[in-house]
Amino acid sequence: MINLKNKTFYAAMLASGILAVSACNHSSNQQKTSMTDSTTQGQLPAASGFDKIIDGKAVKLYTLKNTKGIQAAVTNYGGRLVSLLIPDGKGKTVDVVAGPGSADDYEEAKGNYYGALIGRYGNRIGNAEFKLEGKTYKLNNNDGPNTLHGGKAGFDVKVWDAKQVDDHTLELTYLSKDGEESFPGNLNVKVTYVLNDDDAIEVHYEATTDKPTIINLTNHTYWNLNGNGSGSILKHSLELNADGFTPVSNTLIPTGEIRPTANSPFDFRKPAEIGSRVGEGDTQLKFGKGYDHNFVLNKHTLQTPIAKVQGDVTGIMMEVFTEEPGIQFYTGNFMKGDYKFKGGVKDAYRTAFALETQHFPDSPNKPNFPTTELKPGQTYKTTTIYKFSAK
Ligand code: GLA
Repeated sequence: MINLKNKTFYAAMLASGILAVSACNHSSNQQKTSMTDSTTQGQLPAASGFDKIIDGKAVKLYTLKNTKGIQAAVTNYGGRLVSLLIPDGKGKTVDVVAGPGSADDYEEAKGNYYGALIGRYGNRIGNAEFKLEGKTYKLNNNDGPNTLHGGKAGFDVKVWDAKQVDDHTLELTYLSKDGEESFPGNLNVKVTYVLNDDDAIEVHYEATTDKPTIINLTNHTYWNLNGNGSGSILKHSLELNADGFTPVSNTLIPTGEIRPTANSPFDFRKPAEIGSRVGEGDTQLKFGKGYDHNFVLNKHTLQTPIAKVQGDVTGIMMEVFTEEPGIQFYTGNFMKGDYKFKGGVKDAYRTAFALETQHFPDSPNKPNFPTTELKPGQTYKTTTIYKFSAK
């Protein structure tokens, strides 16, 4: 286990936070949200749209269900969560996963990581390099000067080996070979999706290595609790149990500071509309073109939810439980309407949000952040759960 569960450590980091001063060179994206009403509410996409060979391996769509009638669909192309059908309590079933509905459409839109498992290192590594045990590893830069979500061909574009264990369990495995995307060590990864009878989808991550390496796995589902293709998420309400966040430079690399969320647009400790402060002109919001920041979670156990989000139209509530110390809250600022979502709608600006549970971005270059190193003999093991209800 490389989970960090030391509260005193966080308190000390918060207290020692220094203010970051950097210039803004991003202009904010003023593209308008396009409202759409034709969606694929209530049904999973056709499995036939996923029957494809990619990199010589068979891609498929797998269906999970619980005894309450909730259904999910996952493809082994990037281990992506494709759909999750949740009843809104008023007789409608809502697909709360925003994203494409076929393997072709996912391939087209791969730069946005829709629904995907992310590795080896979720989020950014500054200047595309890190040092480990005295050696410098030079990575592919695929996000300006930095490495994002594992580099040019991360886990999101790999075809995983899939084993449907039972109705509610899908096991995905992938061997990332020593040197893949320049990361050291043969990394054996297993991710298990479980759709349980508490109306929650569990994501269990496990990995081992044969050489010292770094690892930060996450899932990049884009959620819209009003339904795929139902318009802006800015009126969803969000509660995030985080006293601190990690401010970034203008290329979205943490400065190293842990800054209190209090008295800032980053304070979601009481429920607030996602969009209520997004236009406030805060320098950090300019850098991110909106929210695209790692929050330092006050707790990270599976006992208490650290985030609660509710759709304003459906009332559907999602609670997030995680063992990870951080979460990237991203408001779909790079969605531009270029790609196709289920039901033929476009991936319009800010029509979905992501809550990526994770270790902090650029941890390999930030000695004061919880470590992301994994050594031979250790097992990386972490779970995140997304639980649904209708209020
Ligand atoms: C993450 C990043 C964002 C963006 C999205 C994908 O959430 O933090 O900056 O790259 O992935 O578009």
